[in-house]
Amino acid sequence: MSGITVLFNQSKGTINPNIYGHFSEHIGGVFYDGLWVGEDAEVENIRGFRKALVESFAKINPPVLRWPGGCFAETYDWRDGIGPRARRPRRVNWWYNDDHRVESNQVGTHEFMDFCRMTGARPYVAANMTSVTPLHIRDWIEYCNMPAGLTTLADERAANGDREPFGVRYWGIGNENWGGGGSMTAEMCAREYLRFATVCASLPGEMTFVVCGPNAHDAAWTREVMRTLAGKGHTPAALSVHYYCGTAGAPQRFTEAEWYQLLHQANYMQNIVDDHRAAMDEFDPERKTAIFVDEWGCWHQGGSGPSRGYNLFEQQSSMRDAVVAALTLNIFNNRCDVVAMANVAQLCNNLHSLYLAGGGHFVETPNYFVYDMYKTHQNARQLGLANDCGAFGGGEAFRRAARPLDRVSASASQAEDGTVTVTLANTSMTEPAGVTLSGLGGTLAGRAAVTTLAADDPHTCNTFENPKAVQPVTVERAFADGDSLTLPPASVTAVVIRGEASKAHVPA
Ligand code: AHR
Repeated sequence: MSGITVLFNQSKGTINPNIYGHFSEHIGGVFYDGLWVGEDAEVENIRGFRKALVESFAKINPPVLRWPGGCFAETYDWRDGIGPRARRPRRVNWWYNDDHRVESNQVGTHEFMDFCRMTGARPYVAANMTSVTPLHIRDWIEYCNMPAGLTTLADERAANGDREPFGVRYWGIGNENWGGGGSMTAEMCAREYLRFATVCASLPGEMTFVVCGPNAHDAAWTREVMRTLAGKGHTPAALSVHYYCGTAGAPQRFTEAEWYQLLHQANYMQNIVDDHRAAMDEFDPERKTAIFVDEWGCWHQGGSGPSRGYNLFEQQSSMRDAVVAALTLNIFNNRCDVVAMANVAQLCNNLHSLYLAGGGHFVETPNYFVYDMYKTHQNARQLGLANDCGAFGGGEAFRRAARPLDRVSASASQAEDGTVTVTLANTSMTEPAGVTLSGLGGTLAGRAAVTTLAADDPHTCNTFENPKAVQPVTVERAFADGDSLTLPPASVTAVVIRGEASKAHVPA
């Protein structure tokens, strides 16, 4: 039996709730017939948004939701999405050449803010830096955030139905400017950022501006952006990092080798955040600029989702994707001193989605349950771990990352009320893992809710035909320090302990 020891006296700080953030782009089926069905739809809806999805999403305490892109942001004119819906223009959007669908603008700023209010997520707006002027984006911020009665734009917002300002704090300036966002060099991107940030920061209010960071492991980009920005007076609050796991078989058909290939790729996220932080530290030793991993997830070949390829990038998610989500969130928890936000791509009918929906169908994927099981980590104090469960090496992905894959990926935290959460992913596709859990400097004894997400076959997905094939199972039980658990192969487990553990809580 292997062991995991929770080290109550070691902590990297508070787990920023924004690590549990999400992303919703106007692409394929994310909004239209996904989140948004329209007020006149037969599908039950709340002011046009799919009711089942609104209710389900609110349950996992989503801290933040990024919108409207992605690449879509770089041809988006926010003025298209305000005013009476019947009069909004239809546009050939960024993705048109991929799917020949036009943007109807039925969801615009007010609808998105409404969705955020209903679900409790704070808005993170990704603004166009490539094809509009800085003044255009400054106007959007003014429209969103200034009090009615103060300016004409604020009054226009009020006339469009929202007298209260939206209070949008997070503003991404550009998206993937090394590629779809203008094919810029890092220096160009940083200089453009300065133009936009200087002008936008002349508005009052607390705002978090985010500069475009690298594609995956491109540390040269990060270094050049940070070098160009250093000492210019508009230090961005965050650098956006994007990292997707590449193809390793199909979502529902993968070999054992492809299972490990994908998990090793996911595990590479540790290198991504560590190496970019090191590059940033050369120019920002005080760490004024945080890392937002504002796009991450598995990117499989398209066509495996229920729309059979109609919705661009829509894919199924199996237990393999749930294990990727679990191990990635464990990485973020364990690097909460470095990662201040992370947004899984994307919420519905797309890559690594929490939901698949269409017409009257609505399905929570295995990924969804991971977010539900991990939600007590939000805002909790991260705890150190001694993990002697062993590791998997070998294979091409391992050689590249030069970092073994934990046999049992884990993270732990303690909330202010003393509740301890330990989350575990068994990264073996075929073998169960026996683990004892104990505390050092504190105890894990108490009443525990042990939730397990597993399936007899790791290829299992939730589909329109069988929407509940993968469901978590929770067992409430007394837990003694040093108790053992058997983690099924290819599974995710959350142990949430209240009781003695809470009494032992040592404030951070
Ligand atoms: O998430 C899909 C796309 O992936 C986003 O639009 C883009 O930012 C990234 O390349």
